[in-house]
Amino acid sequence: MLVAPSMLSCDFGKLEQETIDICEAGADKIHIDVMDGHFVPNLTFGPVVVESINKVSTKPLDIHLMVENNTFFVELFAHLKPEYISFHIEEEKHPHRLLQKIRDYDIKPAIVLNPSTPPESVEYLLDNLDMILLMSVNPGFGGQKFIPSVIEKAKRLKELLLKKGSKAIIEVDGGVNDKNIHDLKDAGVDMVVAGSYVFKNDYKKAIKSLKV
Ligand code: DX5
Ligand code: ZN
Repeated sequence: MLVAPSMLSCDFGKLEQETIDICEAGADKIHIDVMDGHFVPNLTFGPVVVESINKVSTKPLDIHLMVENNTFFVELFAHLKPEYISFHIEEEKHPHRLLQKIRDYDIKPAIVLNPSTPPESVEYLLDNLDMILLMSVNPGFGGQKFIPSVIEKAKRLKELLLKKGSKAIIEVDGGVNDKNIHDLKDAGVDMVVAGSYVFKNDYKKAIKSLKV
């Protein structure tokens, strides 16, 4: 299991040190939650702040857009060369076009599904993306309770991926901890995001407990 700690739960007063510490503690990717105050009722980082994380990070960035104008935000963050940029399918009229635009920047494109969005909604996009991110909370805030129906959803998505011969990986985000990690693993999940669970505990021990 790959682990991507969400910087949303870190201490912003020492952003650079937190980034260094989380990389040293064993993070595989650094998850960045970009919120615009419109798609979700919260406002987080712009590119200037993410740049200071990127400057000291030894791990690739995984940028999760929770915004209304996806194209604008892709253009805003592309120069940071993250490994992934993911956008919500619920907010995109032209997903094929945007996936290609992200790929043209040499960034791996990914799509996010809210807890109530079925996996079949991305069936016709599976050839064009590198990752599907399943939300296990409603997006907007860290520290929310895990929605268990994501387990069945991940299994269904895994079957779809196998049927289509897609190599895209499955990421799950929201309320992930040492209690639900084994069910996620069994369901075929490849990478998890963890915010409050990692930052409220010993970073190294918490990350290790998720690497199942
Ligand atoms: C929620 C964000 C998550 C969140 C995860 O909108 O996408 O990445 O920060 O935090 P926890 O692990 O605390 O649910
Ligand atoms: Zn996220």
